[in-house]
Amino acid sequence: MQEIQPSIVGQDIICAEVEAPPNALVVFGASGDLTHRKLLGSLFQIFERGLLGEQFYLLGAGRKKLSDEAFRQRAQGAVQEKSGNVSVKAIKPFIDRLYYISGDYSNTLFYEGIKAKLAELDKKRKVNSSHIFYLAVPPFLYGTIVERLGSTELSCPGEKQRARLVVEKPFGRDLQSAGELNDKIRRCFDESQVYRIDHYLGKETVQNILVFRFANTIFEPVWNRNYIDSVQITIAESIGVEHRGGYYDQAGALRDMFQNHMLQMLALVAMEPPTSFEADRLRDEKVKLLRSIQPFRLDELDRFFVRGQYGPGLINGEEVIGYRTESGVDPRSKTETFIAAKLFIDNWRWKGVPFYLRTGKRLRKKDTEIVITFKKVPHSMFVSAGLGDMPSNVLILQIQPEEGISLGFQAKRPGSKICMSTLNMNFNYRSVFGVDMPEAYQRLLLDCMVGDQTLFTRYDGVEIAWQLLMPVLEAWQKDDSVPYEYAASSDSFPEADALIESDGRKWRKLREV
Ligand code: BG6
Repeated sequence: MQEIQPSIVGQDIICAEVEAPPNALVVFGASGDLTHRKLLGSLFQIFERGLLGEQFYLLGAGRKKLSDEAFRQRAQGAVQEKSGNVSVKAIKPFIDRLYYISGDYSNTLFYEGIKAKLAELDKKRKVNSSHIFYLAVPPFLYGTIVERLGSTELSCPGEKQRARLVVEKPFGRDLQSAGELNDKIRRCFDESQVYRIDHYLGKETVQNILVFRFANTIFEPVWNRNYIDSVQITIAESIGVEHRGGYYDQAGALRDMFQNHMLQMLALVAMEPPTSFEADRLRDEKVKLLRSIQPFRLDELDRFFVRGQYGPGLINGEEVIGYRTESGVDPRSKTETFIAAKLFIDNWRWKGVPFYLRTGKRLRKKDTEIVITFKKVPHSMFVSAGLGDMPSNVLILQIQPEEGISLGFQAKRPGSKICMSTLNMNFNYRSVFGVDMPEAYQRLLLDCMVGDQTLFTRYDGVEIAWQLLMPVLEAWQKDDSVPYEYAASSDSFPEADALIESDGRKWRKLREV
């Protein structure tokens, strides 16, 4: 396969970015993992870009007793881990905006304390816009915190100020629990105040699906069943469950990755063009698409879903343990760490086009991509030269870790009378724009501060995804069978391959790089 280099990027046609208005961010779970690994580093990067706003401050809230100073010390460590060798001096103006309060999440007094602290800090830092409450706590605490925010009126601070609520995934563990959580939220917050995070929507390359599809005319005419043979969406991870065995064993790949990240990517790839780039117009189209997914036939579920669970194996020459011996995991666990699925979309655009989705942990490589395979040419004029079956054009949207787009097409090699090869036209973000991809949380935090819900999931979208998957979860629960075991560091396993090969197609190999 030959490679063609793209020409250098031209001038920006449009470039819009907004500085956050004066906001206070209250992070519940401020001494926890998510705050440390993702939030503080991303906030610092927004700050460095000059977009955080002069008055911004963060009030960390948690069970652990910490002074402001101790919290700042930890935050400094988190920022340095994320931003390399940035100096203490450079971090200081950011760190000085951090405060901390401790208490018991179920005790109203904690929230009264937060309220008093917010009033004091708002005055000191001249914040008059929004209080953003970020739930970076384990999901079982979501309901408790939301109810207390409501009963202490932190959810509706007054005419001039707005409160916003940021909820991490998972949003419920099934349709019923998602509904119950949503009812609690809706008693205290209006949908316009709620920001449900699916961090895949904050990834630059996922957002680029929208620009790619809807800012170009050349793809739309072929983006349908007349020209597309099939679509593959892969999220392969090389990591295992790490320290999250306890949570993961109750969840599994269907709840952890499929119900949210995979269906959201599918929706962006397959939805109809929204009429505008407004949050609700885009979310309307995504929901419409999710509603059009054909319900799974339970009498032949195995033709549409294959589950796997990783066993021991070698990753980069090192032995790793199998899923059932991970800490926090039941040694007889039936929880799936891999899913391969086939689904169809019952609408005019996609009728009959299979969408193959797979995700798994402890696979050979981290590799997330969307592969659009076009139909073959209807007739080969090169039969007499020995080429009756022409390869398909393949368009690949590479989401991570190498971000880019590539398009494969056939071309004549110079010299011989007829010598054809498949060329690959590659666009790589890093080499074209020369920057590292910003962390998804930067985009999401900033959008929440400016009040843009476009990249956040609306409840009807969450609900429809659960409705679609509930029969599958229930069938698996009743079923005695266990997922197929695959060795850690595999690309796939025979039963997952059979799901697609029985249709005469193949999974794309995980990338070598
Ligand atoms: C999370 C899942 O939502 O996404 C994890 O809970 C998974 O299990 C992670 O590892 C993958 O995210 P990313 O950004 O590394 O692809």
